[in-house]
Amino acid sequence: MCGIVGYIGKNKDIRIGLEALRRLEYRGYDSAGAAWYNSEKKEIFFVKKVGRIDNLEKAILESKLDLIGNPFILHTRWATHGGVTDINAHPHFDCRKDFFVVHNGIIENWAELKEKLMKEGHKFISECDTEVITHLIEKYFQGNLEEAVRKTLKEIQGTYGIAVISKKDPQKLVVARLSSPLLLGMGREETFVASDPAAVIAHTRQVINLDDNEIAVINPNNFLILKEKPLVQIEWTLEEAEKKGYPHFMLKEIMEEPEAIKNAIRGRLMAEEGLVKLGGLDSVSEKLRKINHLILVACGTASFAARAGEYMLEEYAGISAEVDIGSEFRYRKPVIDKDTAAIFVSQSGETADTLAALREMREKGILTIGITNVVGSTQARETDAGVYTRSGPEIAVASTKAFLGQLATLTMLTVYLGRQREMALVMGKRIVSELTKLPELAKDVLKSASAIEKLAKKYKDYKNFWFIGRKYNAPIALEGALKLKEISYLHAEGVAGGELKHGPLALIDENFPTIAICPSDSVYGKIVSNIEEIKARGGPVIAIATRGNEDIRKIVDDVIYIPKTLEMITPMLSVIPLHLFAYYMAALLGHDVDHPKNLAKSVTVE
Ligand code: F6R
Repeated sequence: MCGIVGYIGKNKDIRIGLEALRRLEYRGYDSAGAAWYNSEKKEIFFVKKVGRIDNLEKAILESKLDLIGNPFILHTRWATHGGVTDINAHPHFDCRKDFFVVHNGIIENWAELKEKLMKEGHKFISECDTEVITHLIEKYFQGNLEEAVRKTLKEIQGTYGIAVISKKDPQKLVVARLSSPLLLGMGREETFVASDPAAVIAHTRQVINLDDNEIAVINPNNFLILKEKPLVQIEWTLEEAEKKGYPHFMLKEIMEEPEAIKNAIRGRLMAEEGLVKLGGLDSVSEKLRKINHLILVACGTASFAARAGEYMLEEYAGISAEVDIGSEFRYRKPVIDKDTAAIFVSQSGETADTLAALREMREKGILTIGITNVVGSTQARETDAGVYTRSGPEIAVASTKAFLGQLATLTMLTVYLGRQREMALVMGKRIVSELTKLPELAKDVLKSASAIEKLAKKYKDYKNFWFIGRKYNAPIALEGALKLKEISYLHAEGVAGGELKHGPLALIDENFPTIAICPSDSVYGKIVSNIEEIKARGGPVIAIATRGNEDIRKIVDDVIYIPKTLEMITPMLSVIPLHLFAYYMAALLGHDVDHPKNLAKSVTVE
């Protein structure tokens, strides 16, 4: 989704901004732009280009403009209003090119504002909603940029993270947010502004997250926010946010899945006591004891982790649980009992639909818990309490290692809540012990990478795939299908195995392979029956089975083995081959694996 970078301070070269903007490439975008104040000419220079940041850099260098300037603002755009054109790219500017704005979010009343401003004589040149902000600032400016921004924002309905510069008030960078993330990166004699910490970690790990309705005014040597804000330390390192020799971030991140589990559980398991320590829940632990229903809200991949969590929480913690997706939850009118807690699962902590559901729950006075990867994200700040998954930066658009972090955290939450209730010591110890072994077992699964690459070569010409699983692995079938379609652009569907005969079976033939997740667990016999149904209709089957199960070879075409573990924990092993399969298929088909078309990392608009 769109990305913002801004800067004011000792460095005066726009290329510093370009380098920071590149670190937001992973979010997905279709055009990019930059504007910088040149004090010699007393002008704001700007360049905007469709396509990659490389195009923008080339255009900047070819423009022969003086690259020295400060403050500057840059943007990667993911089109919502208006086509993908140079003119619609940000920064946008007013009639006289006095005010330049980059904006993430959507201005809902832009059409009426535009009409009104046009009647007042303002000339619009783009189709983008953001342009109204520049003309409003022009209208309200009377010598003080933040005052004009403040008045402008009063007229706007919708969501925004904005950064504004002006040649009329050039020693300032003014930023503001409402439902779209924005942070200040505090360096020495310099301040960065960014929509994502990835943009600033090469320069500083000290950040201040802006809250909704806050405006910050940043001068070269200081900054002013309307209220005192705590400094937050970014825990990621620059190295973690780089490819380390892998051809794609996605492959690197799949290879980090064992590490993601290890980081999630680090220091949180108490083997002897069969307990889990989650410091982030200490403040609400007594309230959680009294809860008798859980609603887990998430979107996409995170919702599949939530679904596996639902099964665990019901079976092992003995609490009734249900999953809802953010985009639906906000529009249905759920009847919620007061003894309910809501759990929000999100890698980014910035997903608009999940946040809307969170705010709805807060309105209703329901206890809210966040399971989030990004420290200081909106979700982390707005929930009553929470647990960080500690998966490290996830750069590829398709989520992989963060999913493992979410599953590991939900498993720990199950023990935490279960042991507050009826879960026996022996069961607590058993789950904790299996979790401890899990990183090594996950590493073992990764050894199948080359076998899975071979499988991808064998199946790369098929156009349709089914993924099936049962019980804990039913959500993993959905995850396998989503990952494949998302990056390889092949048709893939995931379904709980038992549903096949209620419709999907009609599609099965020799051209429609199925990936069946069939570990040796309580529903093994059931999924084998489903596999038989598929084979009877000529469908090829790849099985993800438990090591040692030689019988399965007699029924299916190909097998990938995973080690034995507890049934509830199996998804953290069975999903790894599916992530690798999706990756190799997409790479073999020559797709831009890390930046799938039409998609963006962290969906911050509705
Ligand atoms: C799929 C994927 C998405 C995200 C979804 C929620 O690979 O990445 O489906 O899982 O957009 O994002 P977060 O977890 O940031 O709320």
